[in-house]
Amino acid sequence: MIVDVRGAVLCVRRGAKGFPSTAEKWEFPGGKLEPGETASQAAVREVREELGLDVEALAETPPVRHVYPEFSITLHGVLCAPLGGGSPTPTLREHTDFAWTLPDQLWRHDFAAADTALLIQLRERFFGSRLRTQTFGRAARFLPESASTNTDALAWAEAGAPEGALVVAERQTAGRGRLGRTWETAPGQCLTFSLLARPKAPPEVAATLPLVAGLAVAEALRARGFEAGLKWPNDVLIGERKVCGILCEAQTSARGIEGIVVGIGVNTGTVPGALAHRAVGLGGVDRLCLLAEICAAFEALYARWATGGLRALRAELDALDCKRGKTIRVRPAAGEIAGLALGIRDDGALLLQHGDGIEPILCGEIAQWD
Ligand code: BTN
Repeated sequence: MIVDVRGAVLCVRRGAKGFPSTAEKWEFPGGKLEPGETASQAAVREVREELGLDVEALAETPPVRHVYPEFSITLHGVLCAPLGGGSPTPTLREHTDFAWTLPDQLWRHDFAAADTALLIQLRERFFGSRLRTQTFGRAARFLPESASTNTDALAWAEAGAPEGALVVAERQTAGRGRLGRTWETAPGQCLTFSLLARPKAPPEVAATLPLVAGLAVAEALRARGFEAGLKWPNDVLIGERKVCGILCEAQTSARGIEGIVVGIGVNTGTVPGALAHRAVGLGGVDRLCLLAEICAAFEALYARWATGGLRALRAELDALDCKRGKTIRVRPAAGEIAGLALGIRDDGALLLQHGDGIEPILCGEIAQWD
C-alpha cells in the first residue's frame, strides 16, 4: 500500500452512474497532512474540501487494475457518494476509474495498454493543475514520441496554433540542436518541449527571444535552488556544465515572421558518464512541475520583452549572465577570439573586450569544453 501520498495525484474519472459528468482531479501537495492525520484521512478531508465531493471514506482497497511494482504505483480506491445525496457509489472493486499515480511517472508509456489513455489524460490534467499562466502552455499536446517537438510545433503553428501552444514529448527520435547538431537524450532523463511565440516585434528584436527563453529556464531552476546561469546565446549552465539547450526556429511567410518556436531541452535526470564533464542533470526533478514553472517564468519575461525588448530585462541579463566578467573564447562565424566578456547588449550582442577594443558579437557561441 502507498501511504505517502505527498505529490501524488488523485484522478477521479467520472461519467459513471451517480457521478457528476465532468472529470475532476485533485492533487496532494506536499506537507498537507494535519498533525496525527493519516494519508487516507487527509485524502478524505481534502477531497471533500477542495472538490466538494462527498467522500465517505478512502478505502485502502487492494489494487483494482494494475500494479506497477517497479514504480511503486498501486491504484487505490475511494468510496464516494454522488453530489446532492443519494446512495454511495460502489467501491473501487466495482469501479475501476480511480487512480493514484505519481506525476513524473505519468510520462512513462510502457504501462499496460488499457491504461494509456488514462495516463495521457492524467499527464495533461496534472500539468493543467500546476500551470499558472494565461497563454504559454494553455494549448498543449503531450506526445509519447516525436521526431522533434520543434518540427511538431512548427507544423501546428502553420496550422494556426495560438501563441503559447506547447508540444511536449517524452522521447525525440530526431531532436535538433543549434548549428546543425543533433540533440539526443536518454528516455526519462530530459524535459523536451517547444513553445510557440507570436511576437509583434521586428526581426532584430525577435532574434533576441532565445535569450529570454534562457533567462526563463535559469530563473525557474534558481527558484528550485540550482545555481543556474545563462551562457550566451542560449544555453543554461549549472557551474560550468550545460543543463539546458535552446533552439529557436521561425515560422515564416511572405509577410515575414509569423511565429517563433522556442525548443527547450532540460536535463532533468542524469547525463551519461561520457558527457559528465560538460553536461549536468538535475538529478530527477518532476518534469511536469518544472515545465509549468518554466512556462510561468517565460510568460512573465516575455510580456516585458514584448513591450521593451531586452532592455526591459537588463537586471536579469546582468544578474544571470554567467560569463560576464570572465575571460572566454568565442567562436563567431569563423575562427576563435579570446577576450573578456563584458555582458550582453540590448540588441543581444555579446560584448567582448580584446586587443584594444570592444567587439560586439552578434552570432556564434562561447567555446566551453575543449
Ligand atoms: C542546443 O543546445 O544545441 C539546442 C538544443 C535544443 C533541444 C530542444 S529539445 C526540444 C526541442 N526540439 C528539438 O528538436 N530541439 C529542441
